[in-house]
Amino acid sequence: EFQYPHTFILMGASGDLAKKKIYPTIWYLYRDNLLPKHSKFIGYARTKQTMQDVREKTKKYMKVRPGEEELLENFWAANDYLAGSYDKRIDYEFLNQLISKHEKGICANRIFYLAVPPTVFEEVTVNIKNACSSIKGFTRVIIEKPFGRDDVSSEKLSNHLATLFREEQIYRIDHYLGKEMVQNLMTIRFANQIFNPAWNRENIASVLISFKEPFGTEGRGGYFDDFGIIRDVMQNHLLQILSLVAMEKPVTLNPNDIRDEKVKVLRHINPIELKDILVGQYVGNPDGQGEEKLGYLNDPTVPKGSVTPTYALAALWINNARWQGVPFILRCGKALNERKAEVRVQYKDVPGDIFSGHSKRNELVIRVQPGEALYLKMMSKSPGMKFDLVETELDLTYSTRYKEASVPDAYERLILDVFTGTQMHFVRNDELKEAWRIFTPVLKKLEENKIKPVPYVYGSRGPPEADGKLSEYDFKFSGSYKWQKPESP
Ligand code: BG6
Repeated sequence: EFQYPHTFILMGASGDLAKKKIYPTIWYLYRDNLLPKHSKFIGYARTKQTMQDVREKTKKYMKVRPGEEELLENFWAANDYLAGSYDKRIDYEFLNQLISKHEKGICANRIFYLAVPPTVFEEVTVNIKNACSSIKGFTRVIIEKPFGRDDVSSEKLSNHLATLFREEQIYRIDHYLGKEMVQNLMTIRFANQIFNPAWNRENIASVLISFKEPFGTEGRGGYFDDFGIIRDVMQNHLLQILSLVAMEKPVTLNPNDIRDEKVKVLRHINPIELKDILVGQYVGNPDGQGEEKLGYLNDPTVPKGSVTPTYALAALWINNARWQGVPFILRCGKALNERKAEVRVQYKDVPGDIFSGHSKRNELVIRVQPGEALYLKMMSKSPGMKFDLVETELDLTYSTRYKEASVPDAYERLILDVFTGTQMHFVRNDELKEAWRIFTPVLKKLEENKIKPVPYVYGSRGPPEADGKLSEYDFKFSGSYKWQKPESP
């Protein structure tokens, strides 16, 4: 397969996502010689521009190391750009001709990356199907959220896509599935006898999956306001992580076997209830610096009086034999004190305590970013004469344990998967449907009742009310433990 010509067509090539993320990503894949030899790249968008313009616009986002200049020239030589409308079939005929020019031989494959606004999504896909499908190889389409904004609109989109492409041709990106530690979840769980037997309601008190970002909407507020943090991060990234933490063992590592299990565990989750969600919105910090002084509502692109959450904490309940009664807490927010994404599996208190209450709960922490790490908080005797307890950890920190390893960016991994035809780390239609089933009712309630988010200060840990919620859901934060970055030997 890899010897045949492949064309990667970037629809929406003049947009933000294209220049900040997709061009750099295909360059890194090209540079590292991971793509099929005869790959061509074509940008398509409404903007009339030359390849030189594309190069200029993407320049500051593409890392080029010394000695790679020639390779970069080759990369750009394999690129082309075509301006055209999104709605006229004739323009797609021209695109088809341009693609065909490179397609010598008996087989040739096409990958379309749709970095286009949702408003033109339907017409773009129809035209690709009708005018640009490959006749001598595969045609695959990569799509990104938003996949609708509720159950009804998402279903409509899915039905539309299903009339054009088979599920095997559709690659729905959730870039969290391309992150190293998210991909490691299955190995941690299913290749370790030490974790597997205790991975249940008998032993685990609660699971906290969180995402924190230290910056606000930074002028992107207009776009963000339509969606809010629940649709932006929780309903997709955090729920995907949840399904990998909670699912049963798949029959095999086949992508559809895995996705069958992910869907199954989601089906055990009832729609979130209003009482199980806390929403927040950041306000400026008068003592802060620069951006920190500005609250969400100070962003000029945000509608006045908006009640869109920039922070949310929700508890989900999985009604199956493994998890009944164990809260899965999803927590995400912008303009917080740090950048962090992690999973905390908190074990129950040890029954029959003989340590006068000094023992703290075990916690398995899977840090997705920054700095991949897996550590297990545990109790140990304090070294020396005393017979005291200390909180300590078994620690696997990637930067010290795997010094030479370079962890690829999520997008690089996922785009390469599309070339090789691996759907394991992509969202299947029925997973998406379940995700909307779980989230739509509560989103509707929040919006219809215009529920006011609680304010929290830019740069803080989030709304103070969140701590109360955590203990309500049996997640104990003792505050006495502090992870220390291990020193390199
Ligand atoms: C995106 C969200 O999906 O993920 C953004 O739309 C968010 O709002 C981003 O900033 C976070 O991604 P990462 O990889 O930086 O954690």
